[in-house]
Amino acid sequence: MIAEIEASKSKIVDTNKDQAKKRKRNTAEGSTAAEAEKDIHSTGNGKASSLVAAHYNARQDAGRDARKQSPIIDLKTFNNWVKSVLIQQYGQKGGRVFDIGGGKGGDLKKWDKCGIRELVLADIAEVSVSQARDRFMDQRHRFKAEFFAMDCFGEPVEDHVPANLLSPLFDTVSLQFCLHYGWDNYAHADLMLDNIAKYLKAGGTFIATFPDCYELHSRLTEAVARDPSAKSFGNTFYNVSFDEVNRTEDNPIHFEPFGQRYTFALTDAIDEVAEFVVDWRELEEMARKKGLRCTYHGNFANFWQEFGLQGGPFRNLADRFGIRINQEIPMNEDLWGAVTIYAAVAFVKE
Ligand SMILES: C[S@@+](CC[C@H](N)C(=O)[O-])C[C@H]1O[C@@H](n2cnc3c(N)ncnc32)[C@H](O)[C@@H]1O
Repeated sequence: MIAEIEASKSKIVDTNKDQAKKRKRNTAEGSTAAEAEKDIHSTGNGKASSLVAAHYNARQDAGRDARKQSPIIDLKTFNNWVKSVLIQQYGQKGGRVFDIGGGKGGDLKKWDKCGIRELVLADIAEVSVSQARDRFMDQRHRFKAEFFAMDCFGEPVEDHVPANLLSPLFDTVSLQFCLHYGWDNYAHADLMLDNIAKYLKAGGTFIATFPDCYELHSRLTEAVARDPSAKSFGNTFYNVSFDEVNRTEDNPIHFEPFGQRYTFALTDAIDEVAEFVVDWRELEEMARKKGLRCTYHGNFANFWQEFGLQGGPFRNLADRFGIRINQEIPMNEDLWGAVTIYAAVAFVKE
């Protein structure tokens, strides 16, 4: 039940490639959860952590009860349902998984339900990786897991993950809510896609969620129509604020293919973190050159229509998650505004 992406969408970006220098951000060697005695430890140049790593490192793991009290609990529940659907639809029982930007390990249980045999999690935020590892040790899982603190968009994966964990190749590579941090320039986007594609087996899947460039573009266009000097939009729950809004004659709002920076704030989750518009056409084309063919692309509103409202096993799953399965907009409308900025994608390695 895979919907193919619509062939053409209006071009909102040009194709100039910014070949910026490769960065070196904070790094740390990985550790093995299966060997409980090993810790996440720094390689020695981990002092200058990036702003993103600092932000996620600083966020406390609220714990289950506090999470339930969150004003954006319906958004979090919905996002978890989307990830569960992707994992069940595209993950493989008995498979090996690479969770890039896996954070505090929020998807460990989802992978357990999928029945995988091994997971490698990597994230730039050292504290989050350590929490993911602790979470793995505290919970019961039927798979093996390894954890690495590394910059997955600035360093080749083989610099940190030992060869014996990169073979046999992965069945699934997952980037949930993190790919947009790597779209600051061409070099990082390209290295990220290398890290995704290089160790993914033929027939294996790459799944991801990130803000949808078409949603960002159309919402900014609406804001500019209301106020020509506008650079931001949002509501009581979220705010998106662009540094620069370039205009062209035929396209009043013009996004750069890389480095189109904005800050994103979301109540009770993200405080003004810099993100970058992921140019979908660029991503699809770069991925294609690395042997990754897109099999699904839809924003979360479409995803809800297809996998939630229209029935089938994932509608039942949504019901079990406590999502209002009979409603086009299954939560507070403003919160739905924040949810529907995102898109989900799936690719297959040829
Ligand atoms: C919104 S969190 C998502 C975490 C997790 N995937 C989830 O869905 O719960 C984004 C994650 O991306 C990670 N991230 C950002 N830039 C990264 C990079 N260059 N390399 C690895 N991880 C990165 C952050 O540290 C953070 O844990």
